[in-house]
Amino acid sequence: MLLALLCLLTFAGAAAPAVAAAPNARPCSAPYSATAYPFCDATLSIPTRARALVSLLTLDEKIAQLSNTAGGAPRLGVPPYQWWSESLHGLADNGPGVNFSSGPVRAATAFPQVILSTAAFNRSLWRAVAEAIAEEALGMHGAGQAGLTYWAPNINIFRDPRWGRGQETSGEDPAVAAAYSVEYVKGFQGEYGEEGRIRLSACCKHYTAYDMEKWEGFSRYTFNAKVNAQDLEDTYQPPFKTCIQEARASCLMCSYNQVNGVPMCARKDLLQKTRDEWGFQGYITSDCDAVAIIHENQTYTASDEDSIAIVLKAGMDLNCGSFLVRHTKSAIEKGKIQEQDIDRALYNLFSVQMRLGLFDKPNENQLGPNNVCTKGHRELAAEAVRQGAVLLKNDNSFLPLKRTEVRHVAIIGPSANDAYAMGGDYTGVPCNPTTFLKGMQAYVTQTTFAAGCKDVSCNSTDLFAEAIEAAKRADIVVVVAGLNLTEEREDFDRVSLLLPGKQMGLIHTIASVTKKPLVLVLLGGGPVDVSFAKHDSRIPSILWLGYPGEVGGQVLPEILFGEYNPGGKLAMTWYPESFTAIPMTDMNMRADPSRGYPGRTYRFYTGDVVYGFGYGLSYSKYSYSILSAPKKISVSHLSVPDVTKSTCQSLVMESELPVLVEFWAPWCGPWKMIDPIVGKLSKDYEGKLKCYKLNRDENPDTASQYRVWSIPGSPP
Ligand SMILES: *[C@@H]1O[C@H](CO)[C@@H](O)[C@H](O)[C@H]1NC(C)=O
Ligand SMILES: *[C@@H]1O[C@H](CO)[C@@H](O)[C@H](O)[C@H]1NC(C)=O
Ligand SMILES: *[C@@H]1O[C@H](CO)[C@@H](O)[C@H](O)[C@H]1NC(C)=O
Ligand SMILES: *[C@@H]1O[C@H](CO)[C@@H](O)[C@H](O)[C@H]1NC(C)=O
Ligand SMILES: *[C@@H]1O[C@H](CO)[C@@H](O)[C@H](O)[C@H]1NC(C)=O
Repeated sequence: MLLALLCLLTFAGAAAPAVAAAPNARPCSAPYSATAYPFCDATLSIPTRARALVSLLTLDEKIAQLSNTAGGAPRLGVPPYQWWSESLHGLADNGPGVNFSSGPVRAATAFPQVILSTAAFNRSLWRAVAEAIAEEALGMHGAGQAGLTYWAPNINIFRDPRWGRGQETSGEDPAVAAAYSVEYVKGFQGEYGEEGRIRLSACCKHYTAYDMEKWEGFSRYTFNAKVNAQDLEDTYQPPFKTCIQEARASCLMCSYNQVNGVPMCARKDLLQKTRDEWGFQGYITSDCDAVAIIHENQTYTASDEDSIAIVLKAGMDLNCGSFLVRHTKSAIEKGKIQEQDIDRALYNLFSVQMRLGLFDKPNENQLGPNNVCTKGHRELAAEAVRQGAVLLKNDNSFLPLKRTEVRHVAIIGPSANDAYAMGGDYTGVPCNPTTFLKGMQAYVTQTTFAAGCKDVSCNSTDLFAEAIEAAKRADIVVVVAGLNLTEEREDFDRVSLLLPGKQMGLIHTIASVTKKPLVLVLLGGGPVDVSFAKHDSRIPSILWLGYPGEVGGQVLPEILFGEYNPGGKLAMTWYPESFTAIPMTDMNMRADPSRGYPGRTYRFYTGDVVYGFGYGLSYSKYSYSILSAPKKISVSHLSVPDVTKSTCQSLVMESELPVLVEFWAPWCGPWKMIDPIVGKLSKDYEGKLKCYKLNRDENPDTASQYRVWSIPGSPP
């Protein structure tokens, strides 16, 4: 969403005087006092009030509502509103709705990046973190420094290890992403009250098949994701379906990319489906400037006005950016849209604002600055790091270290003393960031630090000598290596899976001079090919810490010295560097041996891995047994489908655990029938099966079959 900021600024300078959004202004109470209008009449239903407000607005006032920086209608006592706030893993100021410099709240708890919390595979933890972020959001709102509408979680699938925003997601498994969306959205929005009232609004983004930033010549702004019906249905869509249907999110964001040649914000079929089939009640926002690019950069439409017509008619309600504010009047004048097309969008927008209580008197017990940066939230952030940390290697139980035997630690690496390397994308201002150096010093007074490399890109060996000296003197050497936002971030994908620059050389060099074997700590969201370290006996232990957020430095020694026994599991496959021969743009999930395509993610990938999905060690020995597994999955009510119809069959199944079921039935003849069912199946789940047309040379003799995946980490 970087692009939009530029445009917002341009707009603020060029058009109507920018009115600072006052997040706490309530039209139906002082000082705005619009009480005489029916939209303030609390005895009326929300739909009636929303319609009443729409009916009072002039065309210009209506158009001013279509931007994230929504104009007010001062004449009616309606204040401006800023829709865009961010809260991915703590309050962040990527959006203008959160402002750390305009009031008493100067920082907020920086929880670990989502890919690390996900590795805990603990739904209660995910829920608790979302509730804590919500409390901070309400506290900051109470202080007048944040809105009530947030654009998180990011529930796209971590399809390719190079993706710069994979770190923001809950990994590569659609069932895990779906489960995460439920905990995040429910924890954040709170209980659904009467008429769908919620305390905060969460947003399922980015809809859909969005998982590439900028790679080789391709950009997310113009990328056409070619997705087959089967992958769409059983990989890309399931988290969105759950996020809407089960979690009941009040916002959906359409993405920049096209899906099969049509820009997502213009895909009427896919946008309407969320309302018609999934029961979506909320507003649909575009990603920032995702409408402007439809004509300008994708040349999908013939004019800017046509872009506006196509997205409003498709069902988009809000535009992040100023494009609709600038061009909607002209779209009306040219007859491309009618005023009713805008009214439809405004109805959705005002309904959500009213459900949030933005028109009524603020709650007397508003939260405030004391609810932000609390001790409890810091402890929860630490707990999330502990539970998520993944022990990748621990030969001969080298870890945990014994405190009595370690008097002098050297901690080496460009990020080891950098508080800003810890947060990952969408980090705001942390309350009290603890670097690895500071955290280690609190444990072992004699801790020395050497950067080894000037920065994470590590382009020179100039600082190696100093690191060698530090390593030689220490009892134990911890090297902190891996990625940073300089290597992977929004609008920037990696091209290699290897450690950046000369980092590998640094690790080799240090390993050859230490008294004892060294401990390697890896940072970053995307997987790295560390095969060299996996096979090097001088490096007995490797610990992955993702982006651990502000308490990472505190937790690292707790784990290394065995106060906490790590048990996190990777939520994504760690592929070898050879995987980068596969174009990032190939959206196919399933392997295709005929063209040497290995497939993607643990569900389909057929090649070698460095570390697999679900991998992670512990200091203790343990084994798994299934607590309770589906005793029965029965499939009935199946009859030979009418192959001329695209929808056939219903089925009845039973399962006690959340499962993902894939169906495959060859008696569809030239049709292959697959419908994934993700989530907890009720005793008599009934679902519709769909048939998709596939290649005619499918073997028609293979027996029908299904396979069942249970979702790891779900509570019984
Ligand atoms: C935050 O608020 C301050 C003070 O009102 C203002 O100067 C600044 O521009 C705001 N920052 C953003 C990002 O909106
Ligand atoms: C899951 O997280 C919660 C909250 O931190 C914690 O109380 C619980 O013990 C965790 N469950 C497991 C199995 O670790
Ligand atoms: C879109 O096109 C405009 C006009 O050519 C250009 O200025 C802008 O940088 C492009 N934006 C993107 C995201 O490519
Ligand atoms: C990590 O990335 C951030 C953001 O790009 C940068 O400010 C910081 O200097 C980087 N740290 C290192 C050690 O490279
Ligand atoms: C380091 O080298 C890489 C590749 O040679 C280059 O892309 C990058 O900009 C360099 N970084 C710095 C900080 O010099």
